[in-house]
Amino acid sequence: MASAREGRVGIVGSGLIGQSWAMLFASGGFKVKLYDIEQQQITNALENIRKEMKLLEQSGSLKGPLSADQQLSLISGCSTLQDAAEGAVHVQECVPENLELKKKIFAQLDCIVDDRVVLSSSSSCLLPSKLFDGLTHVKQCIVAHPVNPPYHIPLVELIPHPETDPSTVDRTHALMKKVGQSPVRLRKEVDGFALNRLQYALISEAWRLVEEGIVSPSDIDLVMSDGLGMRYAFIGPLETMHLNAEGMVSYCDRYSEGIKRVLKTFGPIPEFSGATVQKVNQAMCTRVPDDPEHLAARRKWRDECLMQLAKLKSHMQSK
Ligand code: NAI
Repeated sequence: MASAREGRVGIVGSGLIGQSWAMLFASGGFKVKLYDIEQQQITNALENIRKEMKLLEQSGSLKGPLSADQQLSLISGCSTLQDAAEGAVHVQECVPENLELKKKIFAQLDCIVDDRVVLSSSSSCLLPSKLFDGLTHVKQCIVAHPVNPPYHIPLVELIPHPETDPSTVDRTHALMKKVGQSPVRLRKEVDGFALNRLQYALISEAWRLVEEGIVSPSDIDLVMSDGLGMRYAFIGPLETMHLNAEGMVSYCDRYSEGIKRVLKTFGPIPEFSGATVQKVNQAMCTRVPDDPEHLAARRKWRDECLMQLAKLKSHMQSK
């Protein structure tokens, strides 16, 4: 039987990402303590989580073997960082993306915790060497970067500090698997981690093609959503290469010269400003006006698509 410590997780920051982590850990049967600097925010977060879990249960998309009520009974708010960390096997920090604020939180945690807990940051782009340098418990520190919305997109990037103990990475990997996420390990830190490096490569070429007037903004999005993205939900770019010829070696033999020729024509880093912003914004707002109601409705639709896709992926993987 799991010890009490193995069953407890602390969440620091109960905004969008903190709430998602709380739901994911509860789905895996973990007791979750949710801490925030704003007491009212914790109340709001618990209410949001309750509503969201009920809706997910009604639509058959609630994760894990427990009912919504059982999962909700595992999540509670707390009023100090100490309470969140006490007796936890893992603390997931989810405060705003601000290096000084995050460093302050980890310095406080460093004074509170013992040698057994993993201290993990949800940071999207702050490097572990910036976040954790000089901490007594640096061996237990890691970045576990989720993808928005984490409840519906399982990928989590695990990025160690140079001094992070390999067992910290292994434990975080195992924990993420246990709550149904799909962790990947970066062997060392790199700016943008893996996901945003790929994402920025795409954004940048999409922008250049629009800026040069070669493709319209809505058509470039179709190239992804009705083209590359259809495959990428199931197989990555490397497996795509493998399947698009008689294996990887054959693909490289056939296509590497063409790939290199095209890559040499890629332009400089776009400025993401000026007339192109107006042009792209106009096209996006025609599809989804940028007021809060329309954006929220489109995000809701996106999440419904992701839930259906998750069901399809799980069905296809069991074949
Ligand atoms: P958010 O602004 O929704 O929530 C942050 C929460 O932290 C707020 O509830 C705030 O009251 C609380 N907070 C502020 N100072 C605090 C303190 N000293 N102690 C405790 N709580 C404090 O932010 P969000 O979007 O949830 O982002 C959190 C982290 O997750 C950021 O590092 C962000 O880069 C990362 N992330 C965000 C993604 C996104 O799409 N929103 C995706 C992946 C990672």
